[in-house]
Amino acid sequence: MDRIRLIGGNELNGEIPISGAKNAALPLMIASLLTDEPLVLQNVPRLADVKQLERILENHGVDIAVHGRRRGEEEGVGQRMTFLAADIVDTTAPYELVSKMRASFWVIGPLLARCHEARVSLPGGCAIGTRPVDLFLYGLKELGAEIDIDDGYVVAKAPKGGLVGAHIRFPKVSVGATHTLLMAASLARGTTVLENAAQEPEITNVAECLVAMGAKISGIGTRTLTIEGVERLHGATVDVIPDRIETGTFAMAAAMTGGNVLLKGARPEHLQSALDILAMTGVDLTVEPRGLRVHRNGNGIQSVDVETDPFPGFPTDLQAQFMALMTMSSGTSHIRETIFENRYMHVAELVRFGADITVDGQMATVRGKPQLKGAQVMATDLRASVSLVIAGLAAKGETIVNRIYHLDRGFERLEDKLSRCGAEIERVAG
Ligand code: EPZ
Repeated sequence: MDRIRLIGGNELNGEIPISGAKNAALPLMIASLLTDEPLVLQNVPRLADVKQLERILENHGVDIAVHGRRRGEEEGVGQRMTFLAADIVDTTAPYELVSKMRASFWVIGPLLARCHEARVSLPGGCAIGTRPVDLFLYGLKELGAEIDIDDGYVVAKAPKGGLVGAHIRFPKVSVGATHTLLMAASLARGTTVLENAAQEPEITNVAECLVAMGAKISGIGTRTLTIEGVERLHGATVDVIPDRIETGTFAMAAAMTGGNVLLKGARPEHLQSALDILAMTGVDLTVEPRGLRVHRNGNGIQSVDVETDPFPGFPTDLQAQFMALMTMSSGTSHIRETIFENRYMHVAELVRFGADITVDGQMATVRGKPQLKGAQVMATDLRASVSLVIAGLAAKGETIVNRIYHLDRGFERLEDKLSRCGAEIERVAG
């Protein structure tokens, strides 16, 4: 298995292009199942999770084409891809494919809406928690679906004539359930109201894509989405938004190492709460026409308390990276993870760098130290893995990050982007 080797201590200086958002690209790809016309997505990141979802969609009968580079296009821009679900040949999403990536469960929404049936493997737990699907099932039942669990599969059938609009109030905010119900309701008969819906920028990206495909949705960007079902959707061309989690990760890396980095193409309004917190740690942030500039000129890092929350709150997907930053702060920081019950897998690994962290239930207490020391580490999820990379960038000496396939799931050209800004980082083949 490949590893990443890095020597810490260099400042980051230069420009980092921000890629298309993984967590927007995945549901946008799934939305292609809703129409028999081509859906063209631009700025799709080159990631293992995207490849994995391609396999799942191909199994349903989707034709996928990757377009070549265009004249005048900068090197390394996201892919332009066409998804054509002219004929859905199979409404089963098998265990072998779904168990590798949880978001693939979301195909249940469009399959049920368009084909009136779906058989999708339950995704199972994962390193960050049990992650149930009760909210999906509740919502789909409200739209009239009949649901059985059979041999580890959710078997869903729409009533005669298809799904019917309903008033759905989620008892808890869920990104995946909101994506899924939004897609399903777009092809249901009548009006659906989704209350207490997620309002992450990725939801807005998908909702706007559905509107471009002919859906009738109001309240986009708010907690209440109203969808008037239509009989059919058509093709469209849609841009994947820049990745706010990648943006926040590089901003924290620059805060930790010092230096001056322009995060090209970043959309600061998509991670304002995290930027507000970063500013409180003592980092200079400037919004420029080409992106977001992050600058720390040798001043210390102030400790700040943080609690994760659904958007517009501080994202759980930046919690591990922020914790890495706090290990070098000048005080004590309290971090509370409220979204996932088991998202502290990075703590034991950060401690290997000499960090002082204790966990009590949802709360982690980080007592900052002036210097971390390089170590051999590994992590069990994507964001935890990258927190170890940014800790290694600031630590003294050599760090080896093992099991980096998690990084390839969600960060495009990570070593390349960092080394172009002065980091000493390389991939070592296993
Ligand atoms: C999305 O996961 C993201 N994944 C996650 O990013 C992100 O951490 C998460 O939202 C929260 O922001 C993608 O977009 C592909 P949820 P999702 O449903 O949709 C509970 C990353 O590193 N819940 O909003 O699965 C659930 O257990 C990943 O890129 C139920 O109880 O998250 C959790 O505690 C990791 N029942 C909370 O809700 C349900 O039916 C929020 O989860 C569904 C969810």
